[in-house]
Amino acid sequence: MDKQEIIRWLKCEDEAELEQLWQKADQIRERHVGKSVHLRGLLEISNICARDCHYCGIRTGNDGLERYRMPEDEIVACAHEGKDYRYGTVVLQAGEDYGITREWMAALIRRIKKETGLAVTLSLGERSDEDLVAWKEAGADRYLLRFETSNRELYDRIHPPLKGTHVDRQALLLRLREIGYEIGSGVMIGIPGQTYDDLAEDILTFSRLDLDMIGVGPYIPHHDTPLGTDDEALKAPEGEQVPNTEAMTYKVIALARIACPDANIPSTTALATLNTATGRELGLSRGANIVMPNLTPRKYRAMYEIYPAKACIDETAADCRACMQRRIISIGRDVGAGRGDSPNRSKEKAA
Ligand code: 5AD
Ligand code: FES
Repeated sequence: MDKQEIIRWLKCEDEAELEQLWQKADQIRERHVGKSVHLRGLLEISNICARDCHYCGIRTGNDGLERYRMPEDEIVACAHEGKDYRYGTVVLQAGEDYGITREWMAALIRRIKKETGLAVTLSLGERSDEDLVAWKEAGADRYLLRFETSNRELYDRIHPPLKGTHVDRQALLLRLREIGYEIGSGVMIGIPGQTYDDLAEDILTFSRLDLDMIGVGPYIPHHDTPLGTDDEALKAPEGEQVPNTEAMTYKVIALARIACPDANIPSTTALATLNTATGRELGLSRGANIVMPNLTPRKYRAMYEIYPAKACIDETAADCRACMQRRIISIGRDVGAGRGDSPNRSKEKAA
């Protein structure tokens, strides 16, 4: 697909035509990654963050938030719980928290690998090359780092750099692959200032980076952030601004599947936040093949408020396990066994 065709789909509002897009994405999903929906247990291990991203509720400038970092033993206990639920992967996510040191994290990864054998995915922000290499050596398998938008000017405007210059996240993703990680990235949909052209470029970038995992979700304004209180002024002109809607999210999931047939694509929590009743299922029926049930202990969940009214805030890990299972079965799919590695990379290894 070329850029014009992607833009045409992003702007399409004809239900009958869109039905064809959903079907095409669903068929490609079935053919390339199969029927199974893999479960990744998401553990939000710290909401401490050094960064000040203009849209994010756990940004350092938000002092109305109680901060936490889970102790090692509690994290390991949650990983065991995920193993008992037969999740193939535990995702360790946090703000860019430099209190999470290289050594502490490496020891934690070693312990989880040794005690549970689960695949370990890290989502810890822009860390140093030494950190990333040490964590790979400790046994981590995958790294998630969204590039958020391929529009450089927009990116720079909403991501104050830590040390004067912006890190090039696309280059960092390629470095992560070189270190040996499976790499995941993605964008927010409907950021104020994001145009259709930008979003089409994002989708082409997924394919260019040959991502193993692609996570996309709607931008949800947060009242304690600069972008959440003053976004009207930053919007692209009417007709060019991408809306941060549920419908737009399905289009991006479907187009990402068509552009990257072998990628693992989650039906995300942000999508479920816009449509609690059926958002997860519709994502899975329109290209997605992964869900990330929350494993975080309930007492921490409300503190990991990257956006308001986040789905699953009042639920326990066991609730989310049962909920996901029911939703997957209800649409005639099955729960994946094993780690759910990237079909992309497995092909490479086999070759
Ligand atoms: N709305 C939607 N998604 C958000 N994220 C952060 N803040 C928001 C928000 N207000 C997403 C970013 C980040 C991921 C962990 O959460 O894309 O990479
Ligand atoms: Fe958490 Fe449905 S996945 S309640």
